[in-house]
Amino acid sequence: MRLTLSRALVLTLAMLWMTAPVQAKRLDDLSHLHGLAFDPADAQQLLLATHHGLYRAYPDGRVELLGRARDDFMALAADPGNPGRLYASGHPVGGGNLGLLRSDDGGASWTKHSDGHRGPVDFHQLTVSPADSNTLYGVHGTLQHSVDGGDSWQPVGPAPAKLISLAGSSHARERLYAATEAGLKVSLDGGKSWRAAVMFRSTASLVQADMNGTVYAFVLGRGLLSTSEPSLAWKTLYNGFGGHYPLQMTVAHDDPQRLAVLTHHGRIFTSDDGGMSWQRFGLPIPSEAVVEGARVYAEYCTSCHGVAGVGETPGTPTAPLDSTKLAPALDGTAHAWHHDDAQLRNTIHEGSVARGGRMPAWNGVLSEADIGHVLAYVKSLWNARERACQGAKHMNCDWQPED
Ligand code: HEC
Repeated sequence: MRLTLSRALVLTLAMLWMTAPVQAKRLDDLSHLHGLAFDPADAQQLLLATHHGLYRAYPDGRVELLGRARDDFMALAADPGNPGRLYASGHPVGGGNLGLLRSDDGGASWTKHSDGHRGPVDFHQLTVSPADSNTLYGVHGTLQHSVDGGDSWQPVGPAPAKLISLAGSSHARERLYAATEAGLKVSLDGGKSWRAAVMFRSTASLVQADMNGTVYAFVLGRGLLSTSEPSLAWKTLYNGFGGHYPLQMTVAHDDPQRLAVLTHHGRIFTSDDGGMSWQRFGLPIPSEAVVEGARVYAEYCTSCHGVAGVGETPGTPTAPLDSTKLAPALDGTAHAWHHDDAQLRNTIHEGSVARGGRMPAWNGVLSEADIGHVLAYVKSLWNARERACQGAKHMNCDWQPED
C-alpha cells in the first residue's frame, strides 16, 4: 500500500514538474521553437512560438514569457496588413486542441477566436494572405480557409502531400504557395489545385510572401530564392546556411528588407538587406576574446565552416562533391561540442590534411592566443546545453535550464 502511495506521489510530482516547466531566461535555453514573427512594437525583437508558450526575444538573447499562456504554440502567423494582429494555434497544456487564437496587442494577450472546420483545430501551417487580411489558410488534416478574418472556416481539399510550409500572396488572395518535400508548388485557385512553382523538384522547406510582391523560398541545394509576383523566375539570394534548413520566415512590417528565419536546428538568423546576408540572432553580448575570435574566424575559417559556424553549404562552387568531406558546422548543431577544449585546440593546431582531410593546420599561422580566441568564438555559438554538456559528458548529460 505504502509503495503504491509513494509511487502515486512521485507520479503526481513528475506530472506537476512536466506541466510547470522552468521559465527560460535566455534564447539558448528554449527548445521546440515552432514559429516566429517580428515584434510589431520593435523589429529588433522577435516573438517566438514555443512548446511552453509565447516568448519575446531580444537581440542579446534574453527572453521573456508573454501573457499567461503556457500552451504548446504550434503555429504563429502575423497579419501583414494589420501590425499588432497575430494568429496562433496549437494544443493546450491539459490536452486537446487550441483552435484559432488571436491577439490584437502584439502577442501580449490572446483570445480564442474560432474552432476552425471540424475543430477545435491544431493548425501546424497557418497563413494570412498579404493581399487580404480577411483571408486565412490553415492545415489541420486537410487544407481549410476563412474569408471572414478567421470567424468561420470551410474545407478546401487535401493539403499538398508532405507539406512543410504554406504562404499566401500579395498578388491575389486565391494565390497560395506550398513548400513540400516534393518541391515548391503554387495554387491559383485557393488551394484546390496545385502545380510546380519551380523547375527543380528538390525539397522546399520554406515559402513566405511579403506585402510588396516579393516571395521567398528555400530549396535544398539551391538556397534561399526570391521572385517578384506573379513571376516564377526565381533567383538565388543566398546559399550559405550550411547544414541548416530554414523552416519559417518573417518580414518586418515597417521594413521589407528586415527578415528573420528559424532553421530546423532551432537557430534564428536575421537579414537587414532583403536576404543577401545573414547574422545569428540572439547571441549574448560578446566578451573581448569572442570579438577577437570572430575576427580571426571571418578571416581564416568562414570560407569553409560558413558564416557563424553553420557548416559548409553543399552544392556551392568551392564545396567538395563528396558530402563526407564537407567542413562540419561548428555552431553546436554537429559534433564539435562532443570534444573537449583540448581536443578542439588540437584539431585547430594540427588540421586533418596529414590524414587525408581538408582541414588545414593552423599551428604557426595563428598564435596560441588567437587559437584560444577563435575557440571562444566557436563556443559562443553553442546553446547552453551544448556548453554545459561539452566533451565526454555529452553521452549522458541531464542538463536543465537555470531558473
Ligand atoms: C579548407 C577548408 C577549411 C578551413 C579553411 C578550415 N577548416 Fe576546420 N575543418 C574542415 C574540415 C573538412 C573538417 C573536418 C575534419 C576532417 O577533415 O576530418 C574540419 C574540422 C574542424 C574542427 C573539428 C570539428 C568537429 O566536429 O570535430 C574544428 C574545431 C575546426 N575545423 C575549426 C576550424 C577553425 C577554427 C578554422 C579557422 C582557423 C578552420 N577550421 C578552417 C575544413 C576547414
